[in-house]
Amino acid sequence: MLRIGVLISGGGTNLQALIDAVDGGILDARITKVIADRPAGGLKRAASAGIPAIMLDRTIYGKELSERIMEELKGEADIVVLAGFLSILGSSFVKAYRGRIINIHPSLLPSYGGKGMHGIHVHEAVIAAGDKYSGCTVHLVEEGVDTGKILAQKKVRVVPGDTPESLAKRILEEEHSLLISAVKNMAKSMEDKQ
Ligand code: GRF
Repeated sequence: MLRIGVLISGGGTNLQALIDAVDGGILDARITKVIADRPAGGLKRAASAGIPAIMLDRTIYGKELSERIMEELKGEADIVVLAGFLSILGSSFVKAYRGRIINIHPSLLPSYGGKGMHGIHVHEAVIAAGDKYSGCTVHLVEEGVDTGKILAQKKVRVVPGDTPESLAKRILEEEHSLLISAVKNMAKSMEDKQ
């Protein structure tokens, strides 16, 4: 069965969507470990689900963070899902898991991606630009920030009166199902290769 390592930095609603999909039998996989790079609300969700979860504080590990995460995941994860993970993974991590690291980003990449474009900053920029649509993207992680192959996208309409917060909320709801379907597809393609 596919073993998933999940990296988080925040509240962990995407992690929760993965937990629910596994528990509900929608996703034939096991979440083997959750790692946060800061005190993240999502750690509680992992603990409640009985998933081993640890915090590797980025302010303590600094440049060693990627290596430490890799040690923690060794032999335990077939794929790695970045579910709202804000640290940038080093090239040796990307190399070790190439084609097996998935990130979810709250915009229609390649628009509004790259360094500094995360969380509410993305939605502020979309609204400031007057865009009619935004959305979310699931992509493979490569060495560049938000530049890997796009696996799936979902458009979300920007409505009059939207604030960065209201837009973020509507996009987040779509992220959950998009992430599950992308992980399912990856699980299937890995199975087919075996
Ligand atoms: C999501 O918007 C995700 O796209 C971004 O960070 C947010 C994480 O939300 N990378 P959550 O922690 O899964 O609730």
